Amino acid sequence: MTRPVAFITGAARGIGLATTKLFLDEGWQVAMNDIDTDELKTASAPLENVLAVPGDVSDPDEAARMTDMVTATLGGINALVNNAGVADFGPMEETTFARWKRVMANNLDGPFLMTQAATPALKASKGAIVNIASISGLRASTLRIAYGTSKAAVIQLTLQQAVELGEFGVRANCVAPGPVRTKLAMAVHSPEIIAAYHDALPLNRYGSESEIAEAIVFLCSNRASFITGQVLAADGGFEATGIGLPALRK
Ligand SMILES: NC(=O)c1ccc[n+]([C@@H]2O[C@H](COP(=O)([O-])OP(=O)(O)OC[C@H]3O[C@@H](n4cnc5c(N)ncnc54)[C@H](O)[C@@H]3O)[C@@H](O)[C@H]2O)c1
Repeated sequence: MTRPVAFITGAARGIGLATTKLFLDEGWQVAMNDIDTDELKTASAPLENVLAVPGDVSDPDEAARMTDMVTATLGGINALVNNAGVADFGPMEETTFARWKRVMANNLDGPFLMTQAATPALKASKGAIVNIASISGLRASTLRIAYGTSKAAVIQLTLQQAVELGEFGVRANCVAPGPVRTKLAMAVHSPEIIAAYHDALPLNRYGSESEIAEAIVFLCSNRASFITGQVLAADGGFEATGIGLPALRK
């Protein structure tokens, strides 16, 4: 039996790489995209049943070229995981238009363009889309004017995709991760932020890449065949918390 194909963006490290490995464990083949060509080569080299697809998801020509490469080489696409993203934390007054546009290009244009390019293949396979948002797209906080707004838009993008593509048998869902110790998070989470997160999360810890991967792979699989247009927060309970919890726990 031929293995179904997952196309994962930003797959050279972090959540994307963990998701690649879980798909492989579950009998899929994976097209691994990343803009970091060297890291993609290192990550994909030891893995079987993968295709390395270097390129920039925020460029329309690249999105079309990479999607054509995947369908021509692997025969189709059964799941698209729009995981590539960047973080940039800063006060609104210091968020230059260039910083704002970089976040929107990577986090929002990318999922739009990649899904648009992959839609014919997804219609043909009655496949699934999973977009990676963030708890920052569900709840506002300081310093995330660009990042939080881009992730809230990814949630709405998912709903639009689910409604438009449902009649073709294509499902679209969103995973909103809580904090995970990846390179992206560690670049913007100071020791003070890490300590505060532990207080604000009912499970009282950061999540792991593989815990996020479980939610993604589930939503792509046939086990989720009647689930579309949903946002699944894999966040240790962050979204459920109210005010004053650390003090109330003492
Ligand atoms: N780590 C967290 O705490 C956390 C929390 C919530 C949401 N997320 C989201 O999870 C996703 C994965 O993040 P991560 O923490 O694994 O980060 P990461 O930095 O470890 O991995 C992201 C990967 O995406 C790639 N990438 C960035 N822009 C790209 C582009 N334009 N084209 C192709 N590849 C590109 C990077 O090179 C990198 O390899 C992101 O969308 C992020 O916003 C992460």
